[in-house]
Amino acid sequence: MSEKIVLTGIKPTGTPHLGNYIGALKPLVDMSQKSRTFMFIADLHALNTIHDPKVIQQYSYEMAAALVAMGLNLDNAILFRQSDIVEVYELATLLTNVTPKGLMNRAHSYKAAVEKNTAAGDDVDAGVNMGLYIYPILMAADILLYNSDIVPVGADQKQHVEFARDIAGYFNNIYGETFKLPEPVISESAGTIPGLDGRKMSKSYDNTIPLFAPESELKKKIMRIITDSKTPEESKDPDESTIFQLYKHFADENEIAKLREMFVAGGMGYGTAKTILYEKINSVLGDARNEYNRLLANKSELDAILENGANKARVVAAETLKRVKRKMLGE
Ligand code: TRP
Repeated sequence: MSEKIVLTGIKPTGTPHLGNYIGALKPLVDMSQKSRTFMFIADLHALNTIHDPKVIQQYSYEMAAALVAMGLNLDNAILFRQSDIVEVYELATLLTNVTPKGLMNRAHSYKAAVEKNTAAGDDVDAGVNMGLYIYPILMAADILLYNSDIVPVGADQKQHVEFARDIAGYFNNIYGETFKLPEPVISESAGTIPGLDGRKMSKSYDNTIPLFAPESELKKKIMRIITDSKTPEESKDPDESTIFQLYKHFADENEIAKLREMFVAGGMGYGTAKTILYEKINSVLGDARNEYNRLLANKSELDAILENGANKARVVAAETLKRVKRKMLGE
């Protein structure tokens, strides 16, 4: 087992879809077979956009259930709910005092909001709450609280991990060596998983395929994948096809080579390719889907898993916070 501390958070802002599966959930489940990992449902980070507690709670359960149903190794993975560890709020508040305001101004998501407002002729900060503005500080608190070395994230989160590193550096400069400097590890495939319309699969584009939808809905969605207008006879480019791009993540090497050949050879319509994709996904995910549904019908089982994780996470969090408060406030 590696000695590095690995940590990542998953924001519960939607029902898990194939993009989440390929880009985040599957890699995390695989990683949990080998290394000890802190893995939490980042419900506090969802608060700046979702103001309905029932919605946050449901998405949180769904993300946790998906990981467990997929076979997360719970001996290695410490799975917990971010909001169950009160120490994280405290550390985030303390970190505000060493974090330059200008650093927050440079955060991609805040900058995007400012640019949008400016283009629309609105006040620069229109619609921006402080949760959005200090989002990177809360994320730094997550990362530093558990002494993380390695933080696997999608490319869109790289800057946040770099900010955590910066904030750790500011703190260490003032108070002496306290925090390790975390490293982001970017999952290459995450950004490139196409959705129904060929753009990146994302809830905000409304082009997702739900991970554990009932068979009929899964099939319906897959049949709706947009293709070009090539006839069945024509040769098709697998690398330009959403169908093939998704298939690659579920099939083995021989199957992938075979479907590639069928695309290139011509003689196969997109409808047939979609059926092949549907059957593959359905067979790979079928067992996990049953387990996912069973867990969501037995939330007390999920509560017990999350509570067990929180109890382990809290020990580390409390120790770090104590150390930080001693440095900042004295013995
Ligand atoms: N902000 C991340 C996202 O939107 C989720 C997250 C919260 C996270 N805290 C984290 C990821 C700490 C890695 C480490 O995907």
